[in-house]
Amino acid sequence: MAFPETFLTELTERNDIVEVVSSYVRLSKKSGSNLFGLCPFHSEKTPSFSVSPDKQIYHCFGCGKGGGVINFIMEIENLSFPEAVEFLARRVNMPVPEQENDRESKKRSRMLALNKDAARFFYEQLSAPGGAPARDYMQRRQIGRATATNFGIGYAPDSWDALRSAMKAKGYSDFELFDAGLVRKGKSGGFYDTFRSRLMFPVIDVRGNVIGFSGRILGDGEPKYMNSPETLVFNKSRNLFALNLAKKSKSGYIILSEGNIDVVSLHQAGFDSAVASLGTSLTPEQARLISRYTGEVIIAYDNDGAGIKAAQRAIGILEKLDLKVRVLRLTGAKDPDEFIKLKGPEAFRNLLEGSEDQIDYRLRTITDQYVLTEPDQKVDFLKEATGMLAKLPGAVERQVYAMRVAELAGVKGEAVADEVERRRRRMLGAARKNEAKAQSRPERQLQPEEKSFRYEDPASAAAEEGLIRLLYLEPSLANNAALPPPEDFSAPVLAHIYTVLRDKARRGDSLSTATLSGELSGQEMSLLVQLLQKPERLSSGERAMSDYIAKMREAKDIRDSKNDLLGYLKKQREKMGIEG
Ligand code: CTP
Ligand code: MN
Repeated sequence: MAFPETFLTELTERNDIVEVVSSYVRLSKKSGSNLFGLCPFHSEKTPSFSVSPDKQIYHCFGCGKGGGVINFIMEIENLSFPEAVEFLARRVNMPVPEQENDRESKKRSRMLALNKDAARFFYEQLSAPGGAPARDYMQRRQIGRATATNFGIGYAPDSWDALRSAMKAKGYSDFELFDAGLVRKGKSGGFYDTFRSRLMFPVIDVRGNVIGFSGRILGDGEPKYMNSPETLVFNKSRNLFALNLAKKSKSGYIILSEGNIDVVSLHQAGFDSAVASLGTSLTPEQARLISRYTGEVIIAYDNDGAGIKAAQRAIGILEKLDLKVRVLRLTGAKDPDEFIKLKGPEAFRNLLEGSEDQIDYRLRTITDQYVLTEPDQKVDFLKEATGMLAKLPGAVERQVYAMRVAELAGVKGEAVADEVERRRRRMLGAARKNEAKAQSRPERQLQPEEKSFRYEDPASAAAEEGLIRLLYLEPSLANNAALPPPEDFSAPVLAHIYTVLRDKARRGDSLSTATLSGELSGQEMSLLVQLLQKPERLSSGERAMSDYIAKMREAKDIRDSKNDLLGYLKKQREKMGIEG
């Protein structure tokens, strides 16, 4: 652990979770000692985000996020663990102890240095004799020299080890290159360059660090983009391409587009506030990041089905943060790049100025699907449109747009307005019921929210969760000889949490969200907090422990016999000459 335990304990004592959360979320008392509010991490209409002043933790019953005050700050401010610690220390005027020998932060800065050197290498390759294919491609896409420099665009040569040898000559090891995602491991154990024969865009964060790369294929082919994997310094869902440049724009809005070429082309045409996500649809974290720099977002996604869907999702996420959202209608072009090439920057400027607000946009997307002169279709149109309007939070907006819809369909305004209100009441009622149900049915929470953590063997996982809960609440059990090894766990994520807790407790360190934050990922921490919500029989800790161990063993026997049976059947089939 990089920070001394005493420091972390004092830090979390002085940063009361209720006070800290309250500056982001309006909390009110609902039941018991917990406070509730609208979750800042997912979109919801009724509060399922709870904060426990006693346990100093938060937990969302809707999206499953949870943790202590440090996790909250990491999540909401988009910070790493040490950065969040520093943030909270500053908040209460506590000096941060010098981090001698902080292995992780050393690794980070080393990786950033490597990324910067790699970016320089790619950049140089663009002007080297071998860079002709990339220069040709840029010329075809009309990307100028100055733009390339502005973005640090480079070229990854058509070679298995050009970058690798260059970086090794600079003193970086294969393992450092591997951890940074710049090389991959081959079947025979050797390493080879990840990016080959691609136009390279460095991804630069708002502090100016090169945190990763996107490589575009030269011309057609799949995959079009290759992005750095998740690393110590690169998280796709928390960063945006070109935000480092866009944050300096004076335009007052951010333009959100899909492809790196679109972004580059927009900047080149003078629209210097364009950004793009890194191969995923817009995430809440990215929206929050954007909201630090602007109050208005203009969506300029591709003019196809996928683009329209993505825009609708993005609107929902951006609106939640009180960002003003408008959507561009790119007629006659497939994307912003093509639009500018075909019609020029002036036409794009006009489009920006006339871009629709998001309600108009949604209404138009709905209208476009129906032929309103056909009675059947008119009814379907009214159903869909009133359903959309019912979701608008503002009563005036609902009224105004109800009139618009009525006009489009050629029916009475009041009738539409009444229908909208009726649907809204029904919707809110259903939402309330659902939530009550979700909270009263614990089995729904048996599976972790995080999909990649899905339990293979829920019966065993329930017992494994129980063991973890016991250990957290009663760390003295860590030295009990009956405690099973992590290999006996069926769920890898639980095995990892268990190992971290057990080893920490054995070292005599205290177990708290603060001391664990540095060692568990945000998702693991959320899972831990989620499983801590359930009651535990602490008074008979050892009994509970042996019960859990027995359940795990029982589940393992069932798993084993199933596997035996499958193995037996397979053998039988092979004997009989049946394939598969
Ligand atoms: N994409 C990606 N990784 C990135 C950027 C974009 O995987 N770093 C994906 C997006 O998710 C989207 C598509 O690439 O599916 C967007 O591509 P497009 O707009 O076609 O990319 P451009 O760079 O603009 O290329 P083109 O000139 O062909 O439009
Ligand atoms: Mn494009």
